Amino acid sequence: MPYYSDEILDELRNRNDIVEVVSSYVQLRQRGGRYVGLCPFHREKTPSFTVSADMQMFHCFGCGAGGNVIGFIMRIENLGFVDAVKRLAERARIELPEDTGRGNAGQAKLKEALYAINQKAARFFHAKLMSDEGGEARNYLYERRVTGRTVKRFGLGFAPAGWASLCAYLKEEGHSDSEIERSGLALKRDNGFADKFRNRLMFPIIDAQSRVVGFGGRVMGQGEPKYLNSPDTPVFNKSRNLFALNYARKAKTPELIVVEGYMDALALFQAGFENVSATLGTAMNREHCRIINQYFRGKTVILLFDSDSAGEAAALRVLPIMAQQNIPVKVLRIRGAKDPDEFLVKYGPDAFAKELTGAKSPTQFKLDLARVKYPNLDNEALVAYLNEAAYVVAAVDDPIERDVYITALSQETGVSAEAIRGRAESKTAPPLDFEHSEYRNKPQNIKGVPEGVLSASRNVLYWMASHINFYEAIRDNLSADEFPLPVYQSLAREIIKIRDAGRPAGPGELTGKFENLTDQQYVSLVFASVFPYNNDDEIKNALNQQIKIIKTNYINRMIEESKTNNDYELLQKWGETQRNLPNSYI
Ligand code: GTP
Ligand code: MN
Repeated sequence: MPYYSDEILDELRNRNDIVEVVSSYVQLRQRGGRYVGLCPFHREKTPSFTVSADMQMFHCFGCGAGGNVIGFIMRIENLGFVDAVKRLAERARIELPEDTGRGNAGQAKLKEALYAINQKAARFFHAKLMSDEGGEARNYLYERRVTGRTVKRFGLGFAPAGWASLCAYLKEEGHSDSEIERSGLALKRDNGFADKFRNRLMFPIIDAQSRVVGFGGRVMGQGEPKYLNSPDTPVFNKSRNLFALNYARKAKTPELIVVEGYMDALALFQAGFENVSATLGTAMNREHCRIINQYFRGKTVILLFDSDSAGEAAALRVLPIMAQQNIPVKVLRIRGAKDPDEFLVKYGPDAFAKELTGAKSPTQFKLDLARVKYPNLDNEALVAYLNEAAYVVAAVDDPIERDVYITALSQETGVSAEAIRGRAESKTAPPLDFEHSEYRNKPQNIKGVPEGVLSASRNVLYWMASHINFYEAIRDNLSADEFPLPVYQSLAREIIKIRDAGRPAGPGELTGKFENLTDQQYVSLVFASVFPYNNDDEIKNALNQQIKIIKTNYINRMIEESKTNNDYELLQKWGETQRNLPNSYI
């Protein structure tokens, strides 16, 4: 991992004015000392995205995104810290220090070890599924109609219920504690390791080079959480991998079907639709588009989502990206069953093939979404509907295609094609508003940490690292373990180490402690997201509130854990701690 000094990063920020950089992505208007525009990170109609030239920061009051110029590039281009730095260096023609060969060799070696560990784990889980221990899991698969052949082809497995059976096996195989920990398959406990996946049905996630990079694990039957995924590691990121990609690549069809669930991918594959991949519990994003462009160039993507899902909102967000990258796409919502898996069970493969032919173009999909908002087309609704439809149609580049939709709208509504065409031509920017309750964005992160807790953590960590006076008070009142994410726990420990040694802890040094790009992104967000306070009293007030937010979230996690472990004594203790949480710490 290249290490960038604070001086280099300072120069980079000085030479890349945030207003200029943001302006090449977002149309900004000056308002007072700030610039405002429509936020590129969430859908909105009125601008809540602001950029401050003085502070060289951006912030969105709508979705909470915020940061400096590096953070902006990381978010908008979906890059890690290092790549964002490289991008900005190129832009400003700054020479960066060469990558150090040693660091890269170390990273390459770690990756090799992680591939090996994942491969061995997959074999281990598969063997367990086939052994006596796997009886219940095989039975579950049988009930879900997954055949033995599918089990073999996907290398499905079973993670035993024991405390650390996989870890013990990996140790036997000669892997070090640190490698095992980095693989994400183990959780560190006071007295050693515990397996992350216990008593779960295991889906190995295999990359395009046929390497096992991670796992999804499903509880058998009811239980929470239904799925666990491997955490991000140097070889795995759930936004950058698709389940069953390795098989989908080999299919000779002109389409790639993208579904939402592991089980859907299995079911489709088994029914003969081998051109299927599943996202890993995240919405389709720019990274997925890159993968598709790399391995499925020229194929039409059929986005298939569950009948009950927030998939529409997700589709609306990814469609522009796909258009930008010239990926042909169609959209299909499953009807008559909750997801593709259930559809196949109920109606069979032929009916499914027929459904597929009904997949809609993005334009038709958007028109349909506009249409369902107006169940009764009285005159007023008709005008509103056609207004929205005009926006959709206005965005179609191809004149013939545009005309086809206009003619259809005219036939549907009885309003003349000329009038609709006229309206479409007067529409420029398409501020589509799908605020219909069903289409409102739902939180993406199923078991994620609430954004409020994350932003509180970022602020507290920022002041821990940078404030002359508050550091000790924070350190003595909030322990590293109480932060919500492992990366923030580690960051807190690093800050304490540096500051106890009497030095200030700067972003350059701290970011350099994290190799994983996602971790880096989290760390750099700490230094990017700070909000201006006018004086120490304001900071103090904010800190007191934020520390309480973090503590409350931590206690809630402890309470959940005590419940899971049926530990009523602990449960009571945490309940009491919660009731007695002070409001002031500093
Ligand atoms: P079945 O319920 O067994 O049919 O699985 P499914 O794949 O159809 O699951 P579902 O439609 O509920 O969810 C779709 C996908 O979202 C899953 O395949 C997972 O990738 C992800 N997902 C669902 N539940 C969870 C969860 O509790 N935690 C996480 N991390 N991901 C989940
Ligand atoms: Mn399902």
